[in-house]
Amino acid sequence: MRIEPAAALVGDIAVPAVKGICQRGALLAAIADGESELRGFGRAADTDAALDAVRLLGAEVAEPEQGTVRIRGRGLRGLVAPDEPIDCANAGTVLRLLSGILAGQDGRSFQLTGDESLSARPVRVDEPLRQMGARVDTNKGRPPVTIQGAKLRPIDYELPVASAQLKSAVLLAGLLAEDGPTTVIERVPSRDHTERLLRALGLRVTRAASAIRVWPAERIPPLSLDIPGDFSSAAPFIVAATLLSGSNLRIHDVDVNPTRTGLLDVLERMGARIAVFNRHSVGGEPVADIEVRDAPLLAATIEPEEVPSLVDELPLFALAASHARGESVVNGAQELRVKETDRIETVTNSLRALGVRISASDDGFRIRGVPARPRGGSMTSAGDHRVAMLGAIAGIASKEGVEIEDAEAVAVSFPGFFELLESVTQR
Ligand code: S3P
Repeated sequence: MRIEPAAALVGDIAVPAVKGICQRGALLAAIADGESELRGFGRAADTDAALDAVRLLGAEVAEPEQGTVRIRGRGLRGLVAPDEPIDCANAGTVLRLLSGILAGQDGRSFQLTGDESLSARPVRVDEPLRQMGARVDTNKGRPPVTIQGAKLRPIDYELPVASAQLKSAVLLAGLLAEDGPTTVIERVPSRDHTERLLRALGLRVTRAASAIRVWPAERIPPLSLDIPGDFSSAAPFIVAATLLSGSNLRIHDVDVNPTRTGLLDVLERMGARIAVFNRHSVGGEPVADIEVRDAPLLAATIEPEEVPSLVDELPLFALAASHARGESVVNGAQELRVKETDRIETVTNSLRALGVRISASDDGFRIRGVPARPRGGSMTSAGDHRVAMLGAIAGIASKEGVEIEDAEAVAVSFPGFFELLESVTQR
């Protein structure tokens, strides 16, 4: 895929639904009583992995019209053990959160697999789920994961890393536990979509300082959920409009949950012109429209506590920093090494190939910015959807354009990405 340089981004757009809420909604609907409806559902490889998984576990899935998914659940402990492994494809959220639910399916056993990328990532949920009483086997801490469901007991668990996926797996298992609440301690807040969704369903979840507590559920009521746009899918457009002079772009109905919007805070510190307006609430999540105009940027430093709030946007931050005056640094982002690719490596390699002065450290990057367009050239996504989108934004903001190898990786989260980008691009 070749991306030509652009002059500006102008127009009004909407982006696909929050991927993590689509996945959480599908998984919860599978153990709900009766029929759930998820509206605004964004079909992509990662959300299809959730639908395929729940279908295999015996839930009925229908799509009566585009963007609406109906799922007939099997009740809290009624999932069927399939004869074949459950293929989570590229989706870490599906593998980890579903493990929490399967751990409580007493007397049945399940196997979870993934693609090459997921098979190289740490499972992490095995340890707390074992403490809760399930039998969980992995391949040296990596998928495939074999889970023998059990009657679960509640635990108190302190997260060894700030990970919403790990937190969510334990909270979901806590819903299926018996005799008392399960507590997860997180020192640095990570995205809280699971907690908000459980609360919206009337389930008992509390948060006091860093302790999140969930009580066993008697049943999960069916979901009737509208899912707003994904901030991570809005982020490439936000960065592009900031970098291209003359831009004026509005992105409508974006989930602006503060555990997800760290990029906005950082861009504001750098001098960006971004307005967040029409704030309202959808399905327990804060939602707004975002207006972006171009602005000259100054360098910024990102410290470890801030990382979870923009973990998936750090590749785009690196690109913004390459156009900013001064040296920018990202610290405490070692989690990037276990994402869909080692994003410290893939981001450094791809941006460097385009003429950006970036170097990798153990836990982040250092970028020497210049307020001018980098040259451009060719890079590979390495099969990572966020790196493919990074390449596209680098391309429109370059002098000579960018050739992206493996650009189709965008379909993991955002199948129509290139068409939407083209629709607001002025040359
Ligand atoms: C996600 C949590 C984050 C994020 C991922 C989606 C989620 O991962 O990087 O894209 O849906 O909970 P970790 O929880 O592993 O940091």
